[in-house]
Amino acid sequence: MQSIDEIRRRLKNQNQEHILRFWDELDDDKRDKFLRQLSTIHIEKVNDLFERADSSFKQLEKTYLDEKMKPIPPSQFQSEESCSPKTLETYRNLGLEEISNGHVGVLLMAGGQGTRLGVSYPKGMYSVQLPSGKTLFQIQAERIRRLQTLAKERTGESGRIPWYIMTSGPTDKATLKFLAANKYFGLDPDDVVIFKQGLLPCFDFDGKILLDEKDSVALAPDGNGGIYRALSQNGILDDMEKRGVKYIHVHSVDNILVKVADPVFIGYCKSKEADCGAKVVKKNSPTEAVGVVCLVDGRFQVVEYSEITENTAKLTDNKGDLVFSAGNICNHFFTVDFLKEIAKNHEEKLKLHVAKKKIPYINDDGDLIKPQKPQGIKIEKFVFDVFEFTKKFVTWEVPRKSEFSAMKNADSEKKDCPATARSDLLALHKSYIEKAGGVVKCDQVEISPLLSYDGENLEKRVKGKVFNSETVLDPEEA
Ligand code: UTP
Repeated sequence: MQSIDEIRRRLKNQNQEHILRFWDELDDDKRDKFLRQLSTIHIEKVNDLFERADSSFKQLEKTYLDEKMKPIPPSQFQSEESCSPKTLETYRNLGLEEISNGHVGVLLMAGGQGTRLGVSYPKGMYSVQLPSGKTLFQIQAERIRRLQTLAKERTGESGRIPWYIMTSGPTDKATLKFLAANKYFGLDPDDVVIFKQGLLPCFDFDGKILLDEKDSVALAPDGNGGIYRALSQNGILDDMEKRGVKYIHVHSVDNILVKVADPVFIGYCKSKEADCGAKVVKKNSPTEAVGVVCLVDGRFQVVEYSEITENTAKLTDNKGDLVFSAGNICNHFFTVDFLKEIAKNHEEKLKLHVAKKKIPYINDDGDLIKPQKPQGIKIEKFVFDVFEFTKKFVTWEVPRKSEFSAMKNADSEKKDCPATARSDLLALHKSYIEKAGGVVKCDQVEISPLLSYDGENLEKRVKGKVFNSETVLDPEEA
């Protein structure tokens, strides 16, 4: 541990000495705790990160990317809806075989603080009040279990899908406790690997580090692009290698429709020999505030809505479709070799983004202030910023209604919130039942992921039946 004099000298050199302004009032225990925290913060590096993030933010505010953008070439794009059933079946079987071979892992990004949703616990523990009461974690774990069964049915060999879960300081303890208390929702605990991403100090708009207590620097997770550093620092890449995992499906925690380890997506990426793939959905409208996957100066990138002019966002091709329509949904395929390459050669170069947020802080009077509007800055890396380093990148477009409904906001926003997540899932389940010959007369019929992953295996349970009231179809009833 460094001495307080040494830390003070370095903070002073870096114009951050104000974080010690309450030092004289602290008792020995608090001083000790604070000193331990300060010793883990490399202040010169942290200031440098702020400078880099701030200057690229200011640069972005001034420039639009329109001139440099090109749509995804057709050879690197495929749409599920325009694929023949035979091709889809080929991809699916390939994916299931890779699962059986033990080559597929899932990496769930669950380190975000969910500030827009506004609950005090990790988002994965959220229940959107489905008839079963299941949380997002449970739904995702059960989808993995069902896939393991499907892979066994296909090949006779049961593959295990390791579930890597990235947490962060704010979400780690509660996640660990919740999953253990629920016995990992039936997954083998050896196949559930939980690891923490890094934290970075938070700043005010002038680059001054914020305190969240008189003896504690306000820290926040370093964005979902923190996975690359976290994967190597926590020995997760080695774990993947040891288990023989070759392909990883990475996704966000808050998409209730996510097809975890989707065999079709994996089969598609594998058959194209891709090192990196992105699932995308068609943008709803030119002005939808979603990032689009495209080429910028010949390299793949996600371009945010704010980085292009409305004219470019509205561009259409000769069929009347949007030219830049590949909406990014935080749903990716990576080979483990590619992840290793990123960790080794590119992680340090990843872009840094400025996120302006409401960050509670201690003011000069020593009072805790909870701001009503964004007044602070978190520095974040984004998971998709590695696209520019791929050698073979592919995109797989899927229908929004069956694959994407993100829970970002509280219900008061009426958009991308628990209520929409719930109704989107139940609408999808209704469509599965109707396709299998059943009739759903109330919108309260839920299918357990243990019974059906994406609509299969339902006929004998629903054909010719009418569902008039709240029902959960689960395998035990069979
Ligand atoms: P979002 O960017 O939507 O952030 O995360 P969030 O934390 O869920 O919500 P807000 O912005 O605070 O309201 C997209 C995915 O990336 C993960 C989230 O857990 C989510 O699955 N994430 C985000 C991390 O794992 N780490 C981070 O540092 C940030």
